Amino acid sequence: MKARIVTLPGDGVGPEVTDAAVAVLKAVAERSGHTFEFESHAIGGCAIDATGQPLPASTLEACKKADAVFLGAVGGPKWSDPHAKVRPEQGLLALRAALGVFANLRPLQVHPALASFSPLKNEKLKNVDVLFVRELTGGAYFGAKTRTEDAATDECKYTVAEIERVTHRAFELARDRRQHVTSVDKANVLETSRLWRSTVQRIAADYPDVKLEHQLVDSMAMLLLTQPSRYDVVVTENLFGDILTDEAAALAGSLGLLPSASLGAGKVGLYEPIHGSAPDIAGKGIANPLGAILSAALLLRHSLELEIEATTVEAAVAQVLSNGPYSRDLSGNATTTQLRDAVISALDDVATPAFLCGLRACG
Ligand code: NAD
Ligand code: IPM
Ligand code: MN
Repeated sequence: MKARIVTLPGDGVGPEVTDAAVAVLKAVAERSGHTFEFESHAIGGCAIDATGQPLPASTLEACKKADAVFLGAVGGPKWSDPHAKVRPEQGLLALRAALGVFANLRPLQVHPALASFSPLKNEKLKNVDVLFVRELTGGAYFGAKTRTEDAATDECKYTVAEIERVTHRAFELARDRRQHVTSVDKANVLETSRLWRSTVQRIAADYPDVKLEHQLVDSMAMLLLTQPSRYDVVVTENLFGDILTDEAAALAGSLGLLPSASLGAGKVGLYEPIHGSAPDIAGKGIANPLGAILSAALLLRHSLELEIEATTVEAAVAQVLSNGPYSRDLSGNATTTQLRDAVISALDDVATPAFLCGLRACG
């Protein structure tokens, strides 16, 4: 198959991990007979420096025409002045809104070889397999903001339609997993959460085969640490999902490991590791690229419908996590490019005949 992929490397470690993800996608294309065309555009701080805008019109146009968009990370101290008129993060939020990618999938699994990097006891990490479905284009991120000398507000608004569509996505995903949805809110305090809870409850009636439970976000933050293996699909609003998934990444051993896929009603998806621009390690070539590479696997699965290729990349990453090498965040010495090359060479170890001939091309 032929696919056009727009890459948005962004700032800090963004370009370093994007380079690794693109190299893996090229290696997949070579081995399975696909043609992937890559086109790189500016977003975030580097786009502000070049054009004054965090999301230049040319970048957005290219993304809208692509089959899939891959983003590294945006932001950093250079653009973090609280009085700045324009910020890198605005570019990312505007892109998510413009692409209509309302459902942000953030899978968490804990590889057994990394159990010692998790702050939890090993026995708690067995069978941890959670799919967070974070609402991505609503809530406090997109409400009206006000600011005076001595006060500020961020409006948090959700409509029924916004809650319904992400809830449907979560239940559909749960059907193909362990048929269990946990909806996380703060319905004891927030009106938006009460609307969230009643809407989710109503939609659940369409999925009698899926079990639904509600959990308040504060206790969920605790339960994620005490009983992580209890959870299957966790659906929640934008801000709660942002916070809970960085917490979840700690269980996996490093923030550098978690991927994400942001999906809307159409096929164009936005794929990014969940970590940021990591200014403390940027430019050193030591960022862990595995979250980015696993995001590329999600791109293959969700936007290009190349399930065999996606699974092969995930198997290659799992092999590297079993055998090494390891990057600094996992107490190793391997560089970003060494990790990239290790995953590419593992592709050949885990490749199946279906992957190598390109099943669809061979019939
Ligand atoms: P961060 O995720 O950039 O870094 C947090 C910690 O995790 C740092 O110690 C960092 O070194 C480490 N880390 C992150 N990614 C890593 C990787 N791949 N390998 C090894 N270690 C890694 O979060 P922060 O420091 O709070 O934010 C820095 C900037 O990134 C901010 O401007 C923020 O807005 C931005 N940010 C962007 C995105 C995005 O573009 N999607 C996501 C989160 C944060
Ligand atoms: C993420 C990031 C972003 C978010 C920021 C950079 C706007 O933290 O993708 O998790 O909060 O959504
Ligand atoms: Mn985040």
